[in-house]
Amino acid sequence: MKIAIVGVGNVGSALAGAFARAGHTILMGVRGATGEQRDLASRIGGRLLSPVEAAGAAEVVLLSLPWRAAEDAVRNLGDLAGKIVIDCMNPLGTVGGGLGLLVGHDTSGAETVAGWLPGARVVKTLNQVGAEIMADAGRLPVRPAMFMAADDAGAKGVVGSLLTDIGFDAMDAGPLRLARILEPYAMVWINQAMLRGKGRDWALAAIHPVGGRA
Ligand SMILES: NC(=O)c1ccc[n+]([C@@H]2O[C@H](COP(=O)([O-])OP(=O)(O)OC[C@H]3O[C@@H](n4cnc5c(N)ncnc54)[C@H](OP(=O)(O)O)[C@@H]3O)[C@@H](O)[C@H]2O)c1
Repeated sequence: MKIAIVGVGNVGSALAGAFARAGHTILMGVRGATGEQRDLASRIGGRLLSPVEAAGAAEVVLLSLPWRAAEDAVRNLGDLAGKIVIDCMNPLGTVGGGLGLLVGHDTSGAETVAGWLPGARVVKTLNQVGAEIMADAGRLPVRPAMFMAADDAGAKGVVGSLLTDIGFDAMDAGPLRLARILEPYAMVWINQAMLRGKGRDWALAAIHPVGGRA
């Protein structure tokens, strides 16, 4: 598939590499390409375009922007009605003196993004582990769990296949409003990785009793 990546930093680069290895075409939506982004593009055979060009030419648009930059950047992508949009972003900021979620409980970052993109088929996922895991989930001995929340069943099916392609165990969390639990769930990984000394190279998986569901 043609996948536009808007926000080619830690997460965007990791996923660009993973999707390219899985055979997808990567359109990198950048403001002014850095040396690292040029190197990545030549390594993976990706195209460097403006964010609006990349989004316009893609079947799937993946948003991996810092939350503080997201509204401006996303509203400027043009009309994405009918396109599948993967929201990897966690609405992070300073809360009570520490890192926390700026929205939650009665809405979510993903629902906010959907409000900026009328008609887009928004799927919340790939926000639940660090970029190092996303870069190559297939190297782990067990597929890590990756939940998805979306209102559009077709979009969820496509994104579930993309998650499988890059080594995740794609799990359906329900409609988009269930991003209200997936964003706080991401904080469980962030807390362990950044505050509890566990580091960044690990993920959670769904396990079953021997002889149970595969
Ligand atoms: N890091 C992780 O492990 C991780 C894991 C899960 C989810 N997330 C979420 O993923 C998102 C990205 O995190 P990150 O760590 O990848 O951030 P990052 O390394 O800072 O990368 C963000 C990228 O967005 C670009 N950007 C900023 N404003 C832009 C605009 N207006 N138009 C186009 N590109 C723009 C930046 O480009 P410039 O160089 O031009 O500023 C940069 O390349 C965040 O919402 C984060 O919560 C991160």
